[in-house]
Amino acid sequence: MCGIVGYVGTRKVVPVLLAGLRRLEYRGYDSAGIVYHHGQELVRHRAEGKLSQLEAVLDEHIGVDSTAGLGHTRWATHGAPTEQNAHPHSDCSGELVVVHNGIIENYSSLKQELVARGHVFQSETDTEVLAHLIEEHLQEDLVLAVRAALAQVEGSYALAVLWAKEPEMLVAARHQSPLVIGVDAEASYLASDIPALLPYTSEVIFLDDGDLAVLQKGAYRVLRLTDGKAIEKKITSIDWTASMAEKGGYRHYMLKEIFEQPLAIRNTISGRIIPDTGTVQLPGLGISDQVLKDLRRIVLVACGTSWHAALVAKYWLEKLVGIPVEVDIGSEFRYRRLLLDEQVLTVVISQSGETADTLEGMRQAARLGSPVLTICNVVGSTMTREADGVLYTHAGPEIGVASTKAFTCQMTALFLFTLYLGQLWGTIGQKEQKDLGLHLINLVDTLSDILEPLRKTVQKVIETYHEARDFLFIGRGINFPIALEGALKLKEISYIHAEGYAGGELKHGPIALIDQYMPVLAIAPQDSTYQKLVTNIEEIKARQGRLILIGTEGDTHLPTLSKDLILLPRVHEDLTPILCTLPAQLLAYEIAALRGCDVDQPRNLAKSVTVE
Ligand code: AGP
Repeated sequence: MCGIVGYVGTRKVVPVLLAGLRRLEYRGYDSAGIVYHHGQELVRHRAEGKLSQLEAVLDEHIGVDSTAGLGHTRWATHGAPTEQNAHPHSDCSGELVVVHNGIIENYSSLKQELVARGHVFQSETDTEVLAHLIEEHLQEDLVLAVRAALAQVEGSYALAVLWAKEPEMLVAARHQSPLVIGVDAEASYLASDIPALLPYTSEVIFLDDGDLAVLQKGAYRVLRLTDGKAIEKKITSIDWTASMAEKGGYRHYMLKEIFEQPLAIRNTISGRIIPDTGTVQLPGLGISDQVLKDLRRIVLVACGTSWHAALVAKYWLEKLVGIPVEVDIGSEFRYRRLLLDEQVLTVVISQSGETADTLEGMRQAARLGSPVLTICNVVGSTMTREADGVLYTHAGPEIGVASTKAFTCQMTALFLFTLYLGQLWGTIGQKEQKDLGLHLINLVDTLSDILEPLRKTVQKVIETYHEARDFLFIGRGINFPIALEGALKLKEISYIHAEGYAGGELKHGPIALIDQYMPVLAIAPQDSTYQKLVTNIEEIKARQGRLILIGTEGDTHLPTLSKDLILLPRVHEDLTPILCTLPAQLLAYEIAALRGCDVDQPRNLAKSVTVE
């Protein structure tokens, strides 16, 4: 995610901004920049790449006599990670600059209107729209101008503004992207996250959605964005270490990323579904509607967890669109005879966009004339630069080696693509389209509501399982891939041998493994395969298998089969894979943490497998 720092006080601002950005590096970024007030001007410096590149251009500015400024580390979402797209972004005059974290959903229409009114844009970003919007409303009062501009904006933002004519004032506002402020006797501080403030103060104020903050030397006030009324904010004392703070107070990045999933999924949906109609729009997909309409077949190619997302998407695409879909592991795909042509869409799914086997498979498909779409989380990665089309997940940087939020965002993006294709092919009726779109939007709140209590349930359930030497995961239909994913999560971070199986396969071999020592996690939401899976569960129970059951709230039968029960809210059957992933992730995490494993950096694993 992007990182924001701001300072207005008595110290020389450049070193304070750079130190603050350093403490936000863990959030992941691909360019950076600062701006500070000097004399009557704003001086801005930006650089692609890591902070060291920015520091290299700041050598003679480190000691500059300036006491107010903003800094930003950018995780690219709209526009490649270049200096031109790095924040801060300025208005036409260069006297007003903005840094921003989030996604401006309606930036495209706003930009068109602003250009039509003569504004000249320098970047490809959505953020720059904010600078020109504020410029349009700016007379003498910066706060009024920011409020008026944000009234026109849809989407998520944490933003901070500096104006040359108000050299000792920062204005900040937040909607769905975090911002925190700190104050001591001489200065006010602004940051996306606590680590940047800890060296100066442990008394912080968390801004809430709809808050606007005005920071001056050693003083701040918070107003309501809508009506400008002053509001009182609670001061929170932070007793975290800097390392804990980088993980948002969570013990591991993986746990933080599991809990970030509602926001990550919301960001992946953001601007892509029209709520009133459920219509999906995928601006900038890069593959024409005509090509998509003419397809005969789709091939999904990925590795590891991303391959599991592909397996889920097969069910959606074949059920909702009626197009034949093949799924292939990247390392197999690249070595077999490929029967591809321009009427077969190759979709490569990758968090990193750098996985060697998937990348090579993509290149072979392209050589055969197959149009290539990548579902990817990293802007500017190799796959996104070489594919014909890109559909980004907006999970933000995923630090833990075990993929969690990227996986549920991959499924979200693939579901959006399925709905889009169904629209083009006319295979999804308008009512169903609206239903499915709304179910996906509502899923975000469901996931957000259940995560805390779900973790407590899982912690209780796993008390007697963390010493297991083997684990079996079973699921059916669209949740069979989630059984595979649950097994992969457990094995890769706890080193317990775990296998995922289709429930119907038990009799074809794995049932020989069942005895009182073998834990079996069964994914059994009340969907169309439920009864068959319950039969499998009963077969396991009859052989003293130790059962952990994931089911639907209100199910009265599962409690008769095991006391180790994880019941989830009822959601649309097609979305159960995203929902059922959460307990599987938490189970793996809690067992690995209990075993004292290196959860974020498991042995022998790399975050991105860039070699065969
Ligand atoms: C998942 O937890 C693993 N880290 C691994 O299987 C990963 O999904 C796989 O290496 C593919 O990576 P990619 O999504 O970056 O291509």
